[in-house]
Parts: sequence; structure tokens; C-alpha cells
Amino acid sequence: MSPGFVDSVMKRYGIQSTSKTALEKEFDVGPINYFASNTRHYSWPKAAVAIIGSTEGGAVDPLRDIIQLRDEFQAKGLSFLVHGDAAWGGYFCTMLLQGYQPCQEINLPSEKGSGAGFVPDSSLRADTHEDLFMLREAVSITIDPHKASYVPYPAGGLCYRDGRMRHLVTWTSPYISRGETTVTSIGVSGIEGSKPGASVMSTWFSNACIGLGPDDYGRLLGEVIFTCSRLSAEWVAISTKGDAFVVMPPNELPSEVKPGSTPDKVETERQKIRDRVLQKTNEEIVNEDKSRPEEDKALALFHALDRI
Ligand SMILES: Cc1ncc(COP(=O)(O)O)c(C=O)c1O
Repeated sequence: MSPGFVDSVMKRYGIQSTSKTALEKEFDVGPINYFASNTRHYSWPKAAVAIIGSTEGGAVDPLRDIIQLRDEFQAKGLSFLVHGDAAWGGYFCTMLLQGYQPCQEINLPSEKGSGAGFVPDSSLRADTHEDLFMLREAVSITIDPHKASYVPYPAGGLCYRDGRMRHLVTWTSPYISRGETTVTSIGVSGIEGSKPGASVMSTWFSNACIGLGPDDYGRLLGEVIFTCSRLSAEWVAISTKGDAFVVMPPNELPSEVKPGSTPDKVETERQKIRDRVLQKTNEEIVNEDKSRPEEDKALALFHALDRI
């Protein structure tokens, strides 16, 4: 599929060339209300971009809702593209449970190991699990091995659901003769010109050595989440009433979010974190959790503090 062919199809069917009147007539939806920005910039073709793991806080957009909305519109004959910006969070898909189906209950972490250096592998929150699962419905996904998979920079990835889409960003240079070869060159796909091969090999090598399942990269990233949660708990509980400073982490505590929150209730929860997490080793946290009901587990609190 050449860029020229795509252009000719878009000219025939794209709203940019057929006009809004044709759209209103086709779907019998007019007259539509239009919002225009102050700058009067507009564009017709629409794509929704879901951030799957924001750089600063690891926040995940509700991709499952976006896909549901797209499916509803598709049933009416309208659609929009969905791109998953999983540059940062994409590798967390390795934590997805084998055979997982949406709405399945996710259990709290399994304790694998013991001893001084033991780091439990945290599970994903149920809603995050579903959003990561739904990435398979996106038409394109950004995933950067140089982020959560620890491959040296620059190892960025852009994955297309339909391999033909890469032709939209194919760049060939006449001075590089490839002769009559029928072998597909991946070196021509992408908006950059020359590209290094070392990062591609590093990515392949890491993926092959570590593995892409829940017991491979998944376990590693599960430990990362646990340790981040510990740090987050540390910050939440670090300031006490007597201190001349207050630490305000971006993620509120469950006691702050619940209706009827009072400073006393928040302080009680902070103290619980000090007693159950800050003074404890990882092994103690997991062992003491065993005798607690699900909703009272320290690890359940970790989940409430996490963004992923
Ligand atoms: C969610 C997300 N998207 C895109 C990017 C851009 O990545 P890069 O600058 O490596 O291309 C980042 C970088 O931190 C990111 O976290």
C-alpha cells in the first residue's frame, strides 16, 4: 500500500475532502453543533490517545471505556482511531495473568520468597489490569523498551495493528540502493532517517533472555511496583503532628477520599501505615498480612496508594 494509494482513498472517503455536509447527510445527524477554539485551528480526523502509564505518576487512562465508546460509535457507522501511548507503561502488560478475561477478580500479591532481600511482587490494580488488557484493541501503540524494560536508550517502539500502516511513515532514500531484494527492510519504516541497530538487538536480547510473561519481566516489574508503593507509603506517613512541615503526596489516602473524612481519621490511617509498613521488613509485611482480612491488608492499602 503506497502513500499515494492511501491519499487517493482518503480523498474519496475522508471528511476533510468530502465536507461536513456529506457527513451530516450520510448519517442523518445534522445540523451538528461544532466547538471552535479561540485559535480557530480545527481538524476533522480524530484519534483518541490513551496514556497507559504517565511519566510522572504512572497514571493509566481508562482505555476500556474509550474502546467501549468507539465500539458504540462504530455500530452506528462512525469511528475514531485509538492510540495507546504505552511508552512508559507498556511492559507492565507482562504482568497480565495468563488466560485473563475482563472483569476477572485479581488477587493480592502472591508471596514468592523470603529472607532479608525478599521483595514481594505486587499485582496490578483490577482496573489497570483491564486497561492494559484492552491495549490489544488499539490501532497503534507506542512502547519504549528504554523505559520500563531497562534497555539502554534509544529503544523506542511504534506498533501497528495493521502492518500496512507503517507505509504511512516509510522513508526510502534514493542513494541507498537495495537492489532487487525481496527481503523486507524494517530500516525504512519510521520518520527518522538512519537508525542504529544496537538498541533493536538489545531489546530483542532482553526480551529473549528475561522473557515476557508474569514470571519473567512481569515478576521484575511486580517488585518495582511493590518498592514504589513502599516509598509512596513512606512519604504519606513521614510528617507527624509535631513537625513544622506537612508532606502532601499527589495520591490521597483512602481516609481522605472517603465521605466524612476528618483530620483524626486521616491521622489514624497514617499511624497504621507507620506501624504496619514503615517499621517492618518486606517479609514481615507479607507474613503479618496473612492473618488479616482482605480489606485490612497492608498490601490492599498499597493498591489504594498506587496509580498502576
Ligand atoms: C507516556 C509517555 N509517552 C511518550 C514519551 C516520550 O518518550 P521519548 O522521549 O523517549 O520518545 C514519554 C517519555 O517519558 C512518556 O512517558
